[in-house]
Amino acid sequence: MNQLIFILKGNIVFTPKPDQFVVYDNSYLISCNGIVTQISQTLPDEYKNYEVSDYENKLIIPGFVDLHTHASQFNQRGLGLDLQLLDWLNEYTFKEESRFHDPSYAISVYEAFAEEVIRQGTTRVVIFATIHKESCRLLIEILTRKGIGAYVGKVNMDCNCPESLQEDTDQSLKDTEELIRTWGDNPLVRPIITPRFAPTSSKKLLAGLGKLAEKYKLPVQSHLSENENEIAWVARLFPEQREYHRVYEHYQLFGQTPTLMAHCVHVTDKCVSGIRENGVIAVHCPDSNLNLASGIMPVRKLLDADVQVGLGTDIGAGHSLSMVQALVKAIQVSKVSNDPACGKPLTLAEAFYMATKGGGQFFGKVGSFEPGFACDALVVDPCIAPGAAFTSLEKLQQFVYTGSSENIISRYCNGKKIKISQ
Ligand code: GUN
Ligand code: FE
Repeated sequence: MNQLIFILKGNIVFTPKPDQFVVYDNSYLISCNGIVTQISQTLPDEYKNYEVSDYENKLIIPGFVDLHTHASQFNQRGLGLDLQLLDWLNEYTFKEESRFHDPSYAISVYEAFAEEVIRQGTTRVVIFATIHKESCRLLIEILTRKGIGAYVGKVNMDCNCPESLQEDTDQSLKDTEELIRTWGDNPLVRPIITPRFAPTSSKKLLAGLGKLAEKYKLPVQSHLSENENEIAWVARLFPEQREYHRVYEHYQLFGQTPTLMAHCVHVTDKCVSGIRENGVIAVHCPDSNLNLASGIMPVRKLLDADVQVGLGTDIGAGHSLSMVQALVKAIQVSKVSNDPACGKPLTLAEAFYMATKGGGQFFGKVGSFEPGFACDALVVDPCIAPGAAFTSLEKLQQFVYTGSSENIISRYCNGKKIKISQ
């Protein structure tokens, strides 16, 4: 078989472990068929005849991994953020999502969403769409055409929501299964089972989704313990389960297949143990937590308990699709938390790890440049002031805190260049 060799040259920076960056200045990142094979300071003889994409003085970093966002809420970014979760859902979000029964509306929003994801340097993203099967197909097509990696969830909800979004339970399960069966074979864009959250799910729906996840060996995503009123509501709806996370666990939606749970803000010790024992990944969405005044995820507590934590933008409760902003915000909120149990703040390396290799684990070997990892890379022009003699790590720090998507000059997913509209 023909081997596709791809070579990038520049100042390579990444986090193989959460506690530190590794830097290879002026080095070659070599990949074969989209997979990193090595980093080398000189070009090995066997590659002398291959073209090198030489980005002198630029940083080469892993593409970002956004583990939680709502493509269907792209148009409502910034709206209604004086409200808290349940009012925000009722007054803005459900109305906006109802519009996705119209495929032409879905196309325009999903195109703009995908374009912005790419512009911000995200190369892998886990998405909530809406209940609408046809709009979901359009999103899958758009992401496939653009060449980034994604899990796309057709949302399931069959109670406690407006009629326009309330599915018939059997139809919801039937639509989900049909979509899975007719998904297509792009290995980069895959399905994920997506009950919106416990309150908009009947027991029958949750049971059916658990069976689908098991039958098709599909991952699962949902929301967990985001807001105090939401948690009290779950306790009234599912008194037999005693705790929020047990609702998902009971219906085989909590780590029986790889699972993402967004928020995990108000978590009891039992919940933290449940998350860890089931290998569930907790997704920290700091912008969303702040905007909806939900509280702040106790990240250090989760990390200390050996829970895997990734980062998400959670558009439209979050207002930006920038994972760089998400990681800065994660560090900042970890510094102001007044809960002594939360412990020491996140370091830049820890937050960068969450935004790359930590979250990337959900996609397999993604988010690092160690051999065997997918070659998902960004080329960053740090635009340092003239005269500054910064190391590559200092340039990265400055980009993270002061840069923008304008500094990202090239993006690659699986060794293939991703185009953006100018
Ligand atoms: N919980 C249930 N649905 C949603 C949603 O759309 N956004 C957020 N942030 N939380 C939710
Ligand atoms: Fe969300």
